[in-house]
Amino acid sequence: MGISGKRIVLGVTGGVAAYKAAVLTRELQRAGARVQVVMTEAGARFVGPATFQALTGEPVFVDQWDTRIANGMAHIELSRAADAIVIAPASADFMASLAQGRAGDLLATLCLARECPLAVAPAMNRQMWENPATQRNVQQLRDDGIEVIGPDSGDQACGETGMGRMLEPDALVEAIGAWLAPKRLAGRRVLLTAGPTFEPIDPVRGITNRSSGKMGFAIARACVAAGADVTLVAGPVSLPTPWAVRRINVQTAQQMHDAVHGELDTASAAVRAHDLFIAVAAVADWRPANYRDSKIKKTDGNAVPELAFAQNPDILASVARRAHPPYCVGFAAESESLEAHGLDKLARKGIPMLVANIGHETFGLDDNELLILEHGSQTRLARAPKALLAHELVRHIAERLS
Ligand code: CTP
Repeated sequence: MGISGKRIVLGVTGGVAAYKAAVLTRELQRAGARVQVVMTEAGARFVGPATFQALTGEPVFVDQWDTRIANGMAHIELSRAADAIVIAPASADFMASLAQGRAGDLLATLCLARECPLAVAPAMNRQMWENPATQRNVQQLRDDGIEVIGPDSGDQACGETGMGRMLEPDALVEAIGAWLAPKRLAGRRVLLTAGPTFEPIDPVRGITNRSSGKMGFAIARACVAAGADVTLVAGPVSLPTPWAVRRINVQTAQQMHDAVHGELDTASAAVRAHDLFIAVAAVADWRPANYRDSKIKKTDGNAVPELAFAQNPDILASVARRAHPPYCVGFAAESESLEAHGLDKLARKGIPMLVANIGHETFGLDDNELLILEHGSQTRLARAPKALLAHELVRHIAERLS
Protein backbone atom coordinates (compact mmCIF):
# COMPACT_ATOMS: atom_id res chain seq x y z
CA MET A 1 0.00 0.00 0.00
CA GLY A 2 1.76 3.12 1.24
CA ILE A 3 5.08 1.49 2.19
CA SER A 4 6.80 0.82 -1.09
CA GLY A 5 9.75 3.11 -1.72
CA LYS A 6 9.48 4.79 1.69
CA ARG A 7 12.44 5.36 3.97
CA ILE A 8 11.31 4.40 7.44
CA VAL A 9 13.18 5.04 10.67
CA LEU A 10 12.25 2.17 12.98
CA GLY A 11 12.68 3.13 16.63
CA VAL A 12 13.11 0.22 19.02
CA THR A 13 12.56 0.99 22.70
CA GLY A 14 12.86 -1.13 25.81
CA GLY A 15 10.37 -3.96 25.96
CA VAL A 16 10.42 -7.69 25.43
CA ALA A 17 8.45 -7.13 22.20
CA ALA A 18 11.72 -5.73 20.79
CA TYR A 19 12.34 -9.25 19.51
CA LYS A 20 9.37 -8.79 17.15
CA ALA A 21 11.00 -5.65 15.72
CA ALA A 22 13.48 -7.85 13.87
CA VAL A 23 10.65 -9.62 12.03
CA LEU A 24 8.94 -6.26 11.50
CA THR A 25 12.13 -4.97 9.86
CA ARG A 26 12.06 -7.88 7.43
CA GLU A 27 8.36 -7.45 6.67
CA LEU A 28 8.75 -3.72 6.04
CA GLN A 29 11.61 -4.44 3.67
CA ARG A 30 9.50 -7.07 1.94
CA ALA A 31 6.81 -4.42 1.45
CA GLY A 32 9.39 -2.24 -0.28
CA ALA A 33 10.65 0.05 2.50
CA ARG A 34 14.21 1.04 3.33
CA VAL A 35 14.58 0.66 7.04
CA GLN A 36 16.97 2.56 9.32
CA VAL A 37 16.95 1.37 12.93
CA VAL A 38 17.51 3.66 15.92
CA MET A 39 17.35 2.12 19.39
CA THR A 40 17.12 3.41 22.92
CA GLU A 41 19.63 2.01 25.38
CA ALA A 42 16.87 -0.03 26.99
CA GLY A 43 15.86 -1.36 23.57
CA ALA A 44 19.44 -2.43 22.89
CA ARG A 45 19.38 -4.48 26.10
CA PHE A 46 16.61 -6.67 24.69
CA VAL A 47 17.97 -7.19 21.15
CA GLY A 48 21.48 -6.31 20.03
CA PRO A 49 22.06 -3.62 17.39
CA ALA A 50 24.08 -6.20 15.42
CA THR A 51 20.85 -8.06 14.58
CA PHE A 52 19.28 -4.97 12.99
CA GLN A 53 22.54 -3.98 11.35
CA ALA A 54 22.70 -7.36 9.65
CA LEU A 55 19.05 -7.19 8.58
CA THR A 56 19.14 -3.66 7.20
CA GLY A 57 22.71 -3.36 6.01
CA GLU A 58 22.71 0.10 7.64
CA PRO A 59 24.50 1.25 10.79
CA VAL A 60 22.25 1.17 13.85
CA PHE A 61 22.29 4.23 16.10
CA VAL A 62 21.75 4.24 19.85
CA ASP A 63 23.96 6.97 21.22
CA GLN A 64 23.12 10.64 20.94
CA TRP A 65 26.84 11.41 20.75
CA ASP A 66 27.58 8.92 17.97
CA THR A 67 30.37 10.39 15.84
CA ARG A 68 29.54 8.36 12.73
CA ILE A 69 27.37 11.20 11.51
CA ALA A 70 29.32 14.38 10.98
CA ASN A 71 28.89 17.53 13.10
CA GLY A 72 26.96 15.80 15.90
CA MET A 73 23.65 16.27 14.10
CA ALA A 74 22.51 12.65 13.98
CA HIS A 75 18.98 13.61 15.10
CA ILE A 76 18.60 16.11 12.27
CA GLU A 77 20.24 13.92 9.62
CA LEU A 78 18.22 10.84 10.48
CA SER A 79 14.85 12.55 10.71
CA ARG A 80 15.48 14.63 7.60
CA ALA A 81 16.15 11.52 5.56
CA ALA A 82 12.99 9.75 6.77
CA ASP A 83 9.55 9.59 5.13
CA ALA A 84 8.12 8.26 8.38
CA ILE A 85 9.18 7.24 11.87
CA VAL A 86 7.66 4.14 13.47
CA ILE A 87 8.37 3.31 17.11
CA ALA A 88 7.84 -0.43 17.64
CA PRO A 89 7.80 -1.44 20.38
CA ALA A 90 6.92 1.85 22.08
CA SER A 91 7.37 1.49 25.84
CA ALA A 92 5.22 3.35 28.36
CA ASP A 93 8.26 5.41 29.30
CA PHE A 94 9.04 6.37 25.72
CA MET A 95 5.44 7.42 25.08
CA ALA A 96 5.50 9.54 28.24
CA SER A 97 8.62 11.23 26.96
CA LEU A 98 7.04 11.82 23.52
CA ALA A 99 3.89 13.23 25.13
CA GLN A 100 6.01 15.75 27.01
CA GLY A 101 8.21 16.62 24.05
CA ARG A 102 11.38 15.49 25.84
CA ALA A 103 14.69 14.94 24.10
CA GLY A 104 16.50 12.67 26.54
CA ASP A 105 18.17 10.37 24.03
CA LEU A 106 18.84 10.12 20.29
CA LEU A 107 15.50 8.50 19.40
CA ALA A 108 13.43 10.99 21.43
CA THR A 109 15.43 13.88 19.97
CA LEU A 110 14.91 12.80 16.39
CA CYS A 111 11.17 12.38 17.05
CA LEU A 112 11.07 15.92 18.37
CA ALA A 113 13.07 17.24 15.41
CA ARG A 114 11.00 15.42 12.77
CA GLU A 115 9.08 16.87 9.87
CA CYS A 116 7.65 13.50 8.81
CA PRO A 117 4.70 11.56 10.27
CA LEU A 118 5.24 9.48 13.41
CA ALA A 119 3.51 6.30 14.54
CA VAL A 120 3.90 4.32 17.76
CA ALA A 121 3.06 0.67 18.43
CA PRO A 122 2.64 0.42 22.21
CA ALA A 123 3.87 -2.70 24.00
CA MET A 124 3.63 -3.17 27.72
CA ASN A 125 2.03 -5.15 30.46
CA ARG A 126 -1.71 -4.77 31.05
CA GLN A 127 -1.44 -2.72 34.24
CA MET A 128 1.01 -0.29 32.66
CA TRP A 129 -1.30 0.14 29.65
CA GLU A 130 -4.37 0.68 31.81
CA ASN A 131 -2.63 3.11 34.13
CA PRO A 132 -4.36 6.50 33.82
CA ALA A 133 -0.99 8.17 33.25
CA THR A 134 -0.36 5.98 30.19
CA GLN A 135 -3.89 6.52 28.92
CA ARG A 136 -3.43 10.27 29.33
CA ASN A 137 -0.18 10.13 27.38
CA VAL A 138 -1.73 8.05 24.60
CA GLN A 139 -4.53 10.59 24.26
CA GLN A 140 -1.98 13.39 24.12
CA LEU A 141 -0.06 11.61 21.35
CA ARG A 142 -3.29 11.21 19.35
CA ASP A 143 -4.15 14.86 19.87
CA ASP A 144 -0.68 15.77 18.59
CA GLY A 145 -1.39 13.90 15.37
CA ILE A 146 0.75 10.88 16.21
CA GLU A 147 -0.67 7.59 14.98
CA VAL A 148 -1.16 5.04 17.75
CA ILE A 149 -1.24 1.53 16.27
CA GLY A 150 -2.66 -1.06 18.66
CA PRO A 151 -2.02 -2.48 21.19
CA ASP A 152 -3.61 -5.88 20.96
CA SER A 153 -4.89 -8.09 23.73
CA GLY A 154 -3.65 -11.58 24.48
CA ASP A 155 -0.98 -13.49 26.41
CA GLN A 156 1.78 -11.35 27.83
CA ALA A 157 5.37 -12.10 28.72
CA CYS A 158 4.60 -11.47 32.39
CA GLY A 159 2.15 -14.40 32.38
CA GLU A 160 -0.96 -12.23 32.34
CA THR A 161 -3.59 -11.93 29.66
CA GLY A 162 -4.94 -8.57 28.60
CA MET A 163 -4.49 -5.39 26.61
CA GLY A 164 -0.98 -4.13 25.95
CA ARG A 165 0.61 -6.62 23.59
CA MET A 166 2.27 -5.17 20.53
CA LEU A 167 0.52 -6.05 17.26
CA GLU A 168 2.12 -8.92 15.37
CA PRO A 169 4.53 -7.75 12.64
CA ASP A 170 2.22 -8.65 9.74
CA ALA A 171 -0.70 -6.73 11.28
CA LEU A 172 1.65 -3.82 12.00
CA VAL A 173 2.85 -3.69 8.42
CA GLU A 174 -0.76 -3.56 7.26
CA ALA A 175 -1.62 -0.76 9.67
CA ILE A 176 1.49 1.22 8.70
CA GLY A 177 0.56 0.74 5.05
CA ALA A 178 -2.93 2.15 5.63
CA TRP A 179 -1.50 5.04 7.60
CA LEU A 180 0.98 5.99 4.88
CA ALA A 181 -1.57 5.41 2.14
CA PRO A 182 -2.38 8.11 -0.40
CA LYS A 183 -4.26 11.19 0.74
CA ARG A 184 -7.56 10.23 -0.82
CA LEU A 185 -9.38 13.34 0.36
CA ALA A 186 -6.64 15.84 -0.40
CA GLY A 187 -8.14 19.26 -1.14
CA ARG A 188 -11.63 18.16 -0.03
CA ARG A 189 -13.75 20.02 2.52
CA VAL A 190 -15.58 17.75 4.94
CA LEU A 191 -18.29 18.64 7.43
CA LEU A 192 -19.32 16.17 10.13
CA THR A 193 -21.73 15.97 13.03
CA ALA A 194 -20.96 13.77 16.03
CA GLY A 195 -22.09 12.96 19.54
CA PRO A 196 -25.54 13.27 21.11
CA THR A 197 -27.67 16.38 21.39
CA PHE A 198 -29.01 17.74 24.66
CA GLU A 199 -32.57 19.06 24.73
CA PRO A 200 -33.24 21.12 27.85
CA ILE A 201 -36.41 20.80 29.92
CA ASP A 202 -35.45 23.50 32.39
CA PRO A 203 -32.12 25.07 33.44
CA VAL A 204 -30.99 21.93 35.26
CA ARG A 205 -32.62 19.07 33.35
CA GLY A 206 -32.72 17.79 29.83
CA ILE A 207 -33.01 14.85 27.48
CA THR A 208 -30.01 13.29 25.79
CA ASN A 209 -28.85 9.86 24.57
CA ARG A 210 -25.96 7.45 24.99
CA SER A 211 -23.91 8.44 21.95
CA SER A 212 -20.25 8.76 22.99
CA GLY A 213 -19.12 10.60 19.87
CA LYS A 214 -16.24 8.13 19.45
CA MET A 215 -17.21 6.95 15.96
CA GLY A 216 -17.73 10.49 14.65
CA PHE A 217 -14.47 11.72 16.14
CA ALA A 218 -12.64 8.69 14.68
CA ILE A 219 -14.07 9.49 11.24
CA ALA A 220 -13.04 13.14 11.59
CA ARG A 221 -9.52 11.92 12.39
CA ALA A 222 -9.52 9.53 9.42
CA CYS A 223 -10.61 12.37 7.12
CA VAL A 224 -7.69 14.48 8.35
CA ALA A 225 -5.35 11.54 7.78
CA ALA A 226 -6.74 11.31 4.25
CA GLY A 227 -5.79 14.93 3.67
CA ALA A 228 -9.18 16.67 4.06
CA ASP A 229 -9.98 20.04 5.59
CA VAL A 230 -12.36 19.01 8.39
CA THR A 231 -15.01 20.83 10.42
CA LEU A 232 -16.75 18.91 13.18
CA VAL A 233 -20.03 20.06 14.72
CA ALA A 234 -20.08 18.24 18.05
CA GLY A 235 -22.82 17.73 20.59
CA PRO A 236 -21.90 17.58 24.29
CA VAL A 237 -19.09 15.02 24.64
CA SER A 238 -15.91 15.18 26.67
CA LEU A 239 -13.62 14.01 23.85
CA PRO A 240 -10.64 16.22 22.99
CA THR A 241 -10.63 17.92 19.59
CA PRO A 242 -8.71 15.79 17.07
CA TRP A 243 -5.56 17.28 15.60
CA ALA A 244 -6.16 19.71 12.71
CA VAL A 245 -9.96 19.54 13.09
CA ARG A 246 -12.02 22.72 13.43
CA ARG A 247 -14.66 22.10 16.05
CA ILE A 248 -17.98 23.84 16.68
CA ASN A 249 -19.65 22.85 19.94
CA VAL A 250 -23.44 22.78 20.17
CA GLN A 251 -26.03 21.47 22.62
CA THR A 252 -29.39 21.10 20.88
CA ALA A 253 -30.53 19.66 17.55
CA GLN A 254 -31.66 23.11 16.45
CA GLN A 255 -28.21 24.54 17.23
CA MET A 256 -26.60 21.66 15.35
CA HIS A 257 -28.88 22.31 12.38
CA ASP A 258 -28.05 26.03 12.39
CA ALA A 259 -24.29 25.42 12.77
CA VAL A 260 -24.29 22.93 9.88
CA HIS A 261 -26.19 25.22 7.51
CA GLY A 262 -24.18 28.22 8.68
CA GLU A 263 -21.03 26.32 7.76
CA LEU A 264 -22.38 25.21 4.36
CA ASP A 265 -23.38 28.83 3.68
CA THR A 266 -19.74 29.97 3.96
CA ALA A 267 -19.07 28.65 0.45
CA SER A 268 -18.53 31.47 -2.01
CA ALA A 269 -16.62 32.28 -5.14
CA ALA A 270 -13.50 32.45 -2.99
CA VAL A 271 -14.24 29.60 -0.56
CA ARG A 272 -14.63 26.09 -1.89
CA ALA A 273 -17.98 24.43 -1.14
CA HIS A 274 -18.03 21.34 1.07
CA ASP A 275 -17.53 18.11 -0.83
CA LEU A 276 -18.80 15.80 1.85
CA PHE A 277 -21.25 15.83 4.77
CA ILE A 278 -21.13 12.90 7.20
CA ALA A 279 -23.93 12.89 9.78
CA VAL A 280 -22.74 10.68 12.62
CA ALA A 281 -24.53 12.54 15.42
CA ALA A 282 -27.35 10.85 17.30
CA VAL A 283 -29.72 13.78 16.95
CA ALA A 284 -32.78 13.93 19.21
CA ASP A 285 -35.87 13.65 17.04
CA TRP A 286 -37.96 15.59 19.56
CA ARG A 287 -37.37 18.33 22.11
CA PRO A 288 -39.46 19.32 25.11
CA ALA A 289 -42.02 21.75 23.67
CA ASN A 290 -42.20 24.13 26.60
CA TYR A 291 -38.80 25.05 27.98
CA ARG A 292 -39.16 26.48 31.47
CA ASP A 293 -36.56 29.10 32.26
CA SER A 294 -36.64 28.34 35.95
CA LYS A 295 -36.27 24.97 37.62
CA ILE A 296 -39.50 22.98 37.79
CA LYS A 297 -40.12 22.43 41.51
CA LYS A 298 -41.87 19.49 43.11
CA THR A 299 -43.97 22.06 44.86
CA ASP A 300 -45.18 23.63 41.58
CA GLY A 301 -48.52 21.83 41.68
CA ASN A 302 -48.49 18.60 39.73
CA ALA A 303 -46.24 16.09 41.52
CA VAL A 304 -45.43 14.41 38.18
CA PRO A 305 -45.07 16.98 35.39
CA GLU A 306 -46.05 15.96 31.87
CA LEU A 307 -43.73 16.67 29.00
CA ALA A 308 -45.02 17.70 25.61
CA PHE A 309 -42.66 17.35 22.65
CA ALA A 310 -42.02 19.27 19.46
CA GLN A 311 -40.33 17.89 16.34
CA ASN A 312 -36.68 18.76 15.69
CA PRO A 313 -35.47 19.49 12.16
CA ASP A 314 -33.92 16.56 10.30
CA ILE A 315 -30.44 17.94 9.70
CA LEU A 316 -29.27 15.32 7.23
CA ALA A 317 -32.44 15.46 5.10
CA SER A 318 -32.30 19.26 5.07
CA VAL A 319 -28.68 19.21 3.84
CA ALA A 320 -29.54 16.66 1.14
CA ARG A 321 -32.36 19.00 -0.01
CA ARG A 322 -30.06 22.01 -0.50
CA ALA A 323 -29.64 23.32 -4.03
CA HIS A 324 -26.06 22.03 -4.43
CA PRO A 325 -25.68 19.48 -1.65
CA PRO A 326 -22.37 17.93 -0.69
CA TYR A 327 -22.14 14.13 -0.98
CA CYS A 328 -24.22 13.06 2.04
CA VAL A 329 -23.49 10.07 4.25
CA GLY A 330 -25.91 9.13 7.03
CA PHE A 331 -25.53 6.82 9.99
CA ALA A 332 -28.22 4.62 11.45
CA ALA A 333 -28.58 2.78 14.69
CA GLU A 334 -31.40 0.28 14.29
CA SER A 335 -32.54 -2.25 16.82
CA GLU A 336 -34.16 -4.55 14.23
CA SER A 337 -34.59 -5.11 10.45
CA LEU A 338 -31.34 -3.26 9.86
CA GLU A 339 -31.36 -3.65 6.11
CA ALA A 340 -35.02 -2.86 5.43
CA HIS A 341 -35.04 0.17 7.73
CA GLY A 342 -31.67 1.28 6.36
CA LEU A 343 -32.81 1.16 2.73
CA ASP A 344 -35.99 2.95 3.66
CA LYS A 345 -33.97 5.66 5.41
CA LEU A 346 -31.68 6.03 2.38
CA ALA A 347 -34.72 6.82 0.23
CA ARG A 348 -36.51 8.95 2.82
CA LYS A 349 -33.52 11.20 3.43
CA GLY A 350 -32.58 11.39 -0.25
CA ILE A 351 -28.94 10.41 0.31
CA PRO A 352 -26.55 8.14 -1.61
CA MET A 353 -25.00 6.30 1.37
CA LEU A 354 -26.13 5.13 4.79
CA VAL A 355 -23.87 3.40 7.28
CA ALA A 356 -25.64 1.10 9.69
CA ASN A 357 -24.21 -0.06 13.01
CA ILE A 358 -24.55 -3.81 13.23
CA GLY A 359 -25.62 -4.63 16.76
CA HIS A 360 -27.18 -1.83 18.72
CA GLU A 361 -25.05 -2.01 21.86
CA THR A 362 -22.01 -0.20 20.47
CA PHE A 363 -22.50 3.04 22.39
CA GLY A 364 -19.27 4.02 24.09
CA LEU A 365 -17.41 0.88 22.98
CA ASP A 366 -14.17 1.04 21.03
CA ASP A 367 -15.20 -1.67 18.57
CA ASN A 368 -17.93 -1.61 15.97
CA GLU A 369 -19.19 -3.49 12.92
CA LEU A 370 -20.70 -1.64 9.98
CA LEU A 371 -22.91 -2.23 6.97
CA ILE A 372 -22.62 0.35 4.19
CA LEU A 373 -25.90 0.62 2.25
CA GLU A 374 -25.98 2.28 -1.14
CA HIS A 375 -28.54 2.20 -3.93
CA GLY A 376 -27.95 -1.23 -5.42
CA SER A 377 -25.02 -2.39 -3.26
CA GLN A 378 -24.01 -3.34 0.26
CA THR A 379 -20.59 -3.56 1.86
CA ARG A 380 -19.90 -5.11 5.24
CA LEU A 381 -16.98 -3.89 7.36
CA ALA A 382 -16.11 -6.64 9.87
CA ARG A 383 -15.83 -5.97 13.61
CA ALA A 384 -12.75 -3.85 14.33
CA PRO A 385 -11.66 -0.89 16.45
CA LYS A 386 -13.60 2.25 15.50
CA ALA A 387 -10.38 3.97 14.42
CA LEU A 388 -9.64 1.25 11.88
CA LEU A 389 -13.24 1.14 10.62
CA ALA A 390 -13.13 4.90 10.20
CA HIS A 391 -10.15 4.59 7.82
CA GLU A 392 -11.90 1.87 5.82
CA LEU A 393 -15.11 3.87 5.61
CA VAL A 394 -13.24 6.98 4.48
CA ARG A 395 -11.52 4.95 1.78
CA HIS A 396 -14.92 3.70 0.61
CA ILE A 397 -16.44 7.19 0.56
CA ALA A 398 -13.40 8.65 -1.23
CA GLU A 399 -13.93 6.15 -4.08
CA ARG A 400 -17.46 7.48 -4.53
CA LEU A 401 -16.25 11.07 -4.57
CA SER A 402 -13.61 10.52 -7.20
N1 CTP B 1 -30.29 12.82 11.67
C1 CTP B 1 -30.24 14.19 11.53
N2 CTP B 1 -31.18 14.96 12.14
C2 CTP B 1 -32.17 14.41 12.86
C3 CTP B 1 -32.23 13.00 13.01
C4 CTP B 1 -31.26 12.23 12.41
O1 CTP B 1 -29.33 14.70 10.89
N3 CTP B 1 -33.07 15.18 13.42
C5 CTP B 1 -29.29 12.00 10.99
C6 CTP B 1 -28.35 11.24 11.90
O2 CTP B 1 -27.17 11.99 12.18
C7 CTP B 1 -28.05 10.00 11.10
C8 CTP B 1 -29.30 9.78 10.31
O3 CTP B 1 -29.97 11.02 10.28
O4 CTP B 1 -27.02 10.22 10.18
C9 CTP B 1 -30.21 8.71 10.82
O5 CTP B 1 -30.50 8.92 12.18
P1 CTP B 1 -31.51 7.97 12.92
O6 CTP B 1 -31.75 8.49 14.29
O7 CTP B 1 -31.12 6.55 12.75
O8 CTP B 1 -32.79 8.16 12.00
P2 CTP B 1 -34.09 8.98 12.21
O9 CTP B 1 -34.20 9.93 11.07
O10 CTP B 1 -34.15 9.57 13.56
O11 CTP B 1 -35.19 7.85 12.00
P3 CTP B 1 -35.81 6.81 13.07
O12 CTP B 1 -35.88 7.51 14.38
O13 CTP B 1 -37.12 6.50 12.48
O14 CTP B 1 -34.91 5.60 13.08
